[in-house]
Amino acid sequence: MRKNIVAGNWKMNKSFGEADELVNGIMTLLEEKELPENTMMIVCPPFPYLEMCTDYSNDSYFMVGAQNVNDNDKGAYTGEVSAEMLKSLEIEYCIVGHSERRAYYGETDAIVARKVDQLLKNEIHPIVCCGEVLEEREAGKQFDVVRRQITDGLFHLTPEQFGEIVIAYEPVWAIGTGKTATPAQAQEIHAFIRGLIADKYGKEVADNTSILYGGSCKPSNAKELFANPDVDGGLIGGASLKAEDFIDIAMAF
Ligand code: 13P
Repeated sequence: MRKNIVAGNWKMNKSFGEADELVNGIMTLLEEKELPENTMMIVCPPFPYLEMCTDYSNDSYFMVGAQNVNDNDKGAYTGEVSAEMLKSLEIEYCIVGHSERRAYYGETDAIVARKVDQLLKNEIHPIVCCGEVLEEREAGKQFDVVRRQITDGLFHLTPEQFGEIVIAYEPVWAIGTGKTATPAQAQEIHAFIRGLIADKYGKEVADNTSILYGGSCKPSNAKELFANPDVDGGLIGGASLKAEDFIDIAMAF
């Protein structure tokens, strides 16, 4: 059965000292509280803090993920980080295709597909983001956009490979805006995504895939979002920067 996952995408925030304080706070709260059954937490800090987070993490508390990876094996790619490097740090998850990377760094579906391949080759679970911008939603194109992103980014995989994937649906109009998709809007598109997976890989693979919601998810709305049958957790931006809020979201299951 698929897992409930609450993943924190810190984006480009926190000094080393602040990051240390945040992860320490998360650890302390997790020691005090018992997470709901079948719920897993992932912390995705900036690259320089990955090792500090893995030093703290213990599989029973939280996993550590990166926010990006390069689509090549190794070599002359100044400033980039490879999947092999992440593996050597024992990183087990990595966000791919976030809308900010698509918008600011030209990350196309073809690049997403290559990054996914690099991660799988190194036994790292890709957390693959999809989602439409406001104009696309207003034009009723959200299903076409998400279908294209999922098909072109992921449907070259074998069913076994697809089993390693986590999907995050993040409507771009809800990211960092305070606007959240309604629970019905989230459920509608999550069910659509699961249907796409079922058509391609069969019901069992689809039923085992965790599909997370992202976009202004916070303690006050997590419960109603997670109550939907096809919403298996969240990819959290702003609210993951406060230990209490991050843990409260996970307690919403
Ligand atoms: P916010 O939770 O800040 O809207 O960000 C969502 C997001 O982009 C997570 O990847």
